[in-house]
Amino acid sequence: MWITVAKANEIAPGKCKIVTRRSLEYAVFNVAGEYYCIDNICPHAGGSLGEGIIEDNCVTCTWHYWQFDVKTGEMCGNQHVRVARFEVREFEGEIQIDVTG
Ligand code: FES
Repeated sequence: MWITVAKANEIAPGKCKIVTRRSLEYAVFNVAGEYYCIDNICPHAGGSLGEGIIEDNCVTCTWHYWQFDVKTGEMCGNQHVRVARFEVREFEGEIQIDVTG
């Protein structure tokens, strides 16, 4: 199921918007004009990945500096650790994420 999380130009390149829906938090990133969405909650100790430092497609959690690829959800350098990743699309001027499953 697709839900709208932002207007198409609302999230600037290199920025993120955190969206809460039904007690889940989603971090929606704009990386050079492409949008990606991962679970906002860092699996290490619950830091907010959406408030992390984004460089290219890698976000660094500000709590203890774990890093995740926002395109895949995988921890940088350790593909066995990951956060959930969600499909993103632009539809009729809005950014939408697929929260199915
Ligand atoms: S909570 Fe994110 S690195 Fe520790």
